[in-house]
Amino acid sequence: MSARASPVSDVAIADGGSGDLDAVIEVMNAAFDERFGEGWTRSQCAGILPMPGVRMVVARFADGLAAGFSLYRTLGPEAELLLLAVAPEFQRRGVGRTLLDHFLDNARQSGATKVHLEVRDGNPAVQMYRGAGFRLQGRRRKYYRGRFGGEFDALTLSRQL
Ligand SMILES: CC(C)(COP(=O)(O)OP(=O)(O)OC[C@H]1O[C@@H](n2cnc3c(N)ncnc32)[C@H](O)[C@@H]1OP(=O)(O)O)[C@@H](O)C(=O)NCCC(=O)NCCS
Repeated sequence: MSARASPVSDVAIADGGSGDLDAVIEVMNAAFDERFGEGWTRSQCAGILPMPGVRMVVARFADGLAAGFSLYRTLGPEAELLLLAVAPEFQRRGVGRTLLDHFLDNARQSGATKVHLEVRDGNPAVQMYRGAGFRLQGRRRKYYRGRFGGEFDALTLSRQL
């Protein structure tokens, strides 16, 4: 087991900005399977960062290496998790759940009373969200368009805070 094989004790979450986009896109491209069209491009990320209520956070090891990130938007009583990803080599070590809990805490502190997200039907991340109290609200048919063709439904999940 490598020094990084044990869970998140040496990972810290901090606010990110445009200077973190290289690291975020690297995690994004490694984590999301391009067959499904769930990942965002650099320009999509850069474009949303200045928008009201949008926050990007990055989970990094002490040496600066990015393990994962999340992107979310809080507007009044609702907060939306837009993206959450962990680099494949660091998955199943609690980083994703730590990022999710950070989002929930932050949404609560910002005054939100409800959180929601969309996730591809069949994405194993659904288990993580269910484990954190999210429940199915609905389905958006053909919401994701895969890089090589194909359209995939999104599930809308939400929970009260
Ligand atoms: C989803 C994702 C962020 C989870 O990150 P992670 O660091 O591996 O998650 P954690 O280690 O904190 O796992 C928390 C729990 O979620 C569930 N879970 C996570 N990945 C899972 C998988 N592949 N299969 C089944 N359950 C899974 C498990 O219950 C897990 O707890 P356990 O490991 O004790 O069983 C990561 O797999 C990822 O980046 N996927 C690609 C990007 C993506 O699809 N993001 C979600 C849509 S925005």
